[in-house]
Amino acid sequence: MITKYRLGTPINTEAVVGELTPQPLDTFPLKLDIGGKTVIEFELQESDAVYGLGEASRGINKRGWIYESWCSDETNHTEDKKSLYGAHNFIVIGGREKFGFFVDFPGKIEWDIGYTLSGKVKITAEGADLDLYYINGESERDIVKQFRKLIGKSYIPPFWAFGYQQSCWGYAKQEDFFAVRDNYRKNNLPLDCIYMDIDYMDSFKDFTVNKKLFPDFRAFVDEMKAHNIRLIPIIDAGVKNQKGYPVYDEGHEKGYFCIDKDGGEFECGVWPGIVGLPDFLNKDVREWFGSQYKTLTDMGIDGFWNDMNEPALFYSKTGLEKANKKLDEIRSKEIDIWAFFRMKDTVLGVQNSMDDYSAFYHNIDGRKVCHKDVHNIYGAFMTKAASDFFEKEFGKEQKLIFSRASYIGAHRGSGIWFGDNFSWWSHILLNLKMLPSVNMCGFLYCGADLGGFNSNCTEDLLLRWLALGVFTPLMRNHRALGTRAQEAYQFEHIDWFSDVLAVRYRLIPYLYDTFRRCSEEYEMMFRPLAFDYPGDDMAREVEDQLMLGEECMIAPVYEQNKNRRYVYLPEDMTLVKLSGENTEKEFLKKGLHYVDVKLNEVALFIKKGKQIPLAPPALSTAELKKDELTYI
Ligand code: GLC
Repeated sequence: MITKYRLGTPINTEAVVGELTPQPLDTFPLKLDIGGKTVIEFELQESDAVYGLGEASRGINKRGWIYESWCSDETNHTEDKKSLYGAHNFIVIGGREKFGFFVDFPGKIEWDIGYTLSGKVKITAEGADLDLYYINGESERDIVKQFRKLIGKSYIPPFWAFGYQQSCWGYAKQEDFFAVRDNYRKNNLPLDCIYMDIDYMDSFKDFTVNKKLFPDFRAFVDEMKAHNIRLIPIIDAGVKNQKGYPVYDEGHEKGYFCIDKDGGEFECGVWPGIVGLPDFLNKDVREWFGSQYKTLTDMGIDGFWNDMNEPALFYSKTGLEKANKKLDEIRSKEIDIWAFFRMKDTVLGVQNSMDDYSAFYHNIDGRKVCHKDVHNIYGAFMTKAASDFFEKEFGKEQKLIFSRASYIGAHRGSGIWFGDNFSWWSHILLNLKMLPSVNMCGFLYCGADLGGFNSNCTEDLLLRWLALGVFTPLMRNHRALGTRAQEAYQFEHIDWFSDVLAVRYRLIPYLYDTFRRCSEEYEMMFRPLAFDYPGDDMAREVEDQLMLGEECMIAPVYEQNKNRRYVYLPEDMTLVKLSGENTEKEFLKKGLHYVDVKLNEVALFIKKGKQIPLAPPALSTAELKKDELTYI
């Protein structure tokens, strides 16, 4: 049962689709303190676990740390971070007492989950206009299902979006894309999409294509499609402030950009230099921005990734001026070691600063609202602009769209990716841990940058990461400019990559059906073992294995120089090792096993009495023989 409580007059975040009548606040079951902020507190039993918060650092069980809901352009996903790109304000308490809790609030929220006091949760929302949802249920799964019904069905992308995808910040000219395509095909490596990062644009201007690099873009897109490869361009939130650039001119003329306190356009710097930030919280602006995608869909483009929409602010004009003044002041005196650190902090503090997030405004139904109070829905509403347009123009399930920043509600129209991770072994595990948490919050189409975005990747790291990515709906290898090349054909044992990628295509019919069912039935595709085996103390603590669908369990190897790992089986299962066309099976009893998995193998565990279909390997989803299935 879900009970809704309303405080003040909340802004409509569009997170929820169900209509519920708010109940009197004096029946609210947790300790509630309302002042300028809203504080909710409750006790935890020793055996309680806390799940949720979607895209966040640390464990599947969130207990023992302090998190913040604040969509952040955070490139360093280390354990000390309180927030990443998404704001997913839903938790489930599992243990003696089970309940779920959703705070529908677009501003900042702090979640102290047993950080200050191990037995206490303290949630502080920076405002007093919000909706609270308290969900009672018989199990964690049941609570999640009720919540998912409340927030509506999850986005289903086109079928081809389940194919393997290659990306790289730095593919610039047409020839770069042809080389990727040809190398994949030549080496018997499957591929469905190649991503176009900001390099394809003319001076990083949204909805433009650099004509020197792509003299006939339409023909280029068609030529790639003829090889069963789709091109997926990036769109950034900021619109380059440049007279004569039609998107900017129109936005400026119509007053569609966010304004500063004096009513002038808020000017901040991102990749294109100074930009206008479209006011996505305004419906007219959403319609206008959404319709801009047509420039590219008209040229045959079928998918997009929306980026920098927290929004990321490298600097603002005023922030930079202030910092420069401060630096002059420091420089005018003798530079001792403390002055040096002040200089350093002054420069670093310019980026994504709270001063800037407090210095611009939106027009929500005629009301001037400060950005910091609605920060967490900005990116979600940018992506809504795109997904609403696609649905209206092309119908459901026709276009691929996913976003970096997100808020619950955006899961109905789009997917997410987990942003700028590193080529670190620990980030394979972080990738795994985020999957059930974001699924709880409705985001089913998701994945991390496989191989790692920042720093240099190695062959073994990529193979192991792909062996997890084989199961994630979005399976994309992406890296940053200047890092070591990490396309599957760049390494010593290309045939091993071919073996692992073949497994993805063999699994697509199963993964796609499971995905669809999870969307239709409000289920999680990936679950912690604790959700399925609540009575099993060992299963409750497992943080490096996941249940997949109703049939499987996955347990990837995520450490360097390891050919085996411990796997806990909460019941008897069949270990299946897939590699290329090969399938090896071994029956294993409930309990702890030391399982060996070679670098070119993908292991999964099938529950007793269950079967999954496998297709023959294929080089693209278009060539996949969906009706030639065998069952294991
Ligand atoms: C951001 C994105 C990354 C992209 C880069 C350049 O860092 O998260 O994926 O490659 O910008 O556009």
